[in-house]
Amino acid sequence: MDILALLLFLFPIYIANSSPVVLGGGIAIDLGEKFFDKKRILGKGKTVRGFIAGVVCGTVAGMLIAMIYPLEFFGSTSSQMMGAFAVSLGTMTGDSLGSFIKRRIDLARGRPFIIDTALFLAIALVFVYPFAEGILYSLENLLFMFGFTIIMHPAANFIANKLGLKNVPW
Ligand code: CTP
Ligand code: MG
Repeated sequence: MDILALLLFLFPIYIANSSPVVLGGGIAIDLGEKFFDKKRILGKGKTVRGFIAGVVCGTVAGMLIAMIYPLEFFGSTSSQMMGAFAVSLGTMTGDSLGSFIKRRIDLARGRPFIIDTALFLAIALVFVYPFAEGILYSLENLLFMFGFTIIMHPAANFIANKLGLKNVPW
């Protein structure tokens, strides 16, 4: 298992997931609209600017990595670059999907929830599938990526809270 390669693969995913905290705000993706259950579709924590910021920052981070460090999970630099966009879009889609699920099961915005810690990674891995080699999805690679993320996510949120970037430490 190539831990450095896995960390470099995960890096743009984490950049995409965290940049909205700093760069987000403004108009909500759901435009304030409610679903059939009379609850917000996504909630006011999911903004258009945050979504775009996540996709752009994650893509830029992944493309910079592609220029200096070819990852074994991609067959070529161009597939690694498209992969950077795919994981970033997947991360932000997974993040919004998580909020959609949380609103449906009636968790207030910002409540801690296991969905927050791993769903974005799962959806990023689905989105990057067309550009990635099969080895990315080996059992040991998946265990490392989910294990590391589930441990790092609360730690990162704790630090973001201490830095005053997030109101709650999760
Ligand atoms: N954010 C954003 N746009 C997004 C995602 C996040 O602007 N698409 C910003 C919001 O300011 C949000 C913060 O990043 O409050 C933290 O993101 P997150 O924890 O995912 O959102 P929550 O506010 O906790 O909302 P939810 O309960 O829906 O997860
Ligand atoms: Mg949250």
